[in-house]
Amino acid sequence: MEVVPVDGPAEAGALVADIVAAAVTAGARVLGLATGSSPLPAYAELGRRCRAGEVSLAGLDAFLLDEYVGLPPDSPQSYARFIRDEFVNLVDLDPARVHGPDGSAPDPLAEARRYDVALRDGGPVDVQILGIGANGHIGFNEPGSSLASRTRLKTLAERTRQDNARFFDRPEDVPRHVITQGLGTIREARHLVLVATGEAKAAAVAAAVEGPVTASCPASVLQLHPHVTMVVDEEAAAQLR
Ligand code: F6R
Repeated sequence: MEVVPVDGPAEAGALVADIVAAAVTAGARVLGLATGSSPLPAYAELGRRCRAGEVSLAGLDAFLLDEYVGLPPDSPQSYARFIRDEFVNLVDLDPARVHGPDGSAPDPLAEARRYDVALRDGGPVDVQILGIGANGHIGFNEPGSSLASRTRLKTLAERTRQDNARFFDRPEDVPRHVITQGLGTIREARHLVLVATGEAKAAAVAAAVEGPVTASCPASVLQLHPHVTMVVDEEAAAQLR
């Protein structure tokens, strides 16, 4: 695992954009996308580079990490919509090649299995962008998740619902359930690139990088992967020894 210190979100975004651009030049054909605040500077920078003709994502497939259960894909809070507004509309990806779990599927268990198969058929993911929850989650694999888990239905931790309430009108509107790629699924990507900025992530980053590999900190499973880049600013790195 390499830990790369950066000055802040803008530098983190530029570095992640460099990694994606280099992977595309080297023949990458599948991107893995996280939602949330951490990857936004990278998405904005990739948008700028696409518009400037410096990189092209045309012809690539993209797979989302997760989705809320119970929100239609067009709901403003759905992750499908978030990725469309914050990334796909900024770059030259074909929207038809952007895949995610359908949170409005009538049978979420079957939908999770379908998505896992879609990832196996369409993968492997060449570069998977990740954020980290303050409780150490990646995707929505909350503490206690099996390190070998596959895409499945999960209940959000109360801390995660509180952290994500900023995207909803009322805290009680945050869904309780999600479909998320499992830790075993995420580990099948060739290169995992995790972005952590801000002091709220410091304890989780320290546990992920220096703690034991344990389901109590799901991101610690990254220690078992052969190619991980952790992009961390000073605040997020504050508890690293
Ligand atoms: C989002 C996801 C989550 C977030 C994490 C950090 O698709 O899978 O693991 O990456 O909750 O969120 P932010 O970046 O908003 O702090």
